[in-house]
Amino acid sequence: MEQILANDIDEVLVTRDDIRAKVEELGALISKDYSDKNLLMVGILRGAFVFLADLIREVHIAMETDFIAISSYGSSTNTSGVVRILKDLDDDIEGRHVLIVEDILDTGLTLNYLVKNLSSRRPASLEVCSFIIKEGKQRVPIMPKYSGFTVPNTFVVGYGLDYAQKYRNIPIIGTLKRSAYEDDGLV
Ligand code: IMP
Repeated sequence: MEQILANDIDEVLVTRDDIRAKVEELGALISKDYSDKNLLMVGILRGAFVFLADLIREVHIAMETDFIAISSYGSSTNTSGVVRILKDLDDDIEGRHVLIVEDILDTGLTLNYLVKNLSSRRPASLEVCSFIIKEGKQRVPIMPKYSGFTVPNTFVVGYGLDYAQKYRNIPIIGTLKRSAYEDDGLV
């Protein structure tokens, strides 16, 4: 049976045009700030791969990319803060100017863990760029140097963000209709 994912979206919070403009803006800022530095952009898999792919094409200086894959214990809608590294970085980051690229900052526990972990590897600098910040959810004080949009305290999908591994390919950020998840025990 054909399944049109867009039909599961309740409200569009960030449109394609908003995304495009914001990614351009962030890319310009990063290009300026790192113009004389050996920038390494680290995408957190899986969610950040869509944002990272767009963002690097708006960064107009020499740079490299690497990825780290993590999984949080607990369900996708309820992060526990205990993070497991599924795939570590390929490169040594000692002395590098590292920019962690994340899809969404929710409780902040994941980024808090990663910042601590990567700091211990002695990078020259370590900053965070999170495309989305969820309002009022942060349990640890973490403020990304670069961020795109703030969304209300609700579960969102699209532009790399999933629910049960689906919806990452939707080119907007939006909320899900109840019918898309009520059979999955989310409510
Ligand atoms: P945190 O540790 O609570 O900040 O959670 C961060 C991770 O949880 C993100 O990288 C996402 O993978 C996932 N996450 C948090 N909120 C959402 C959401 O609204 N939609 C999809 N994934 C989310």
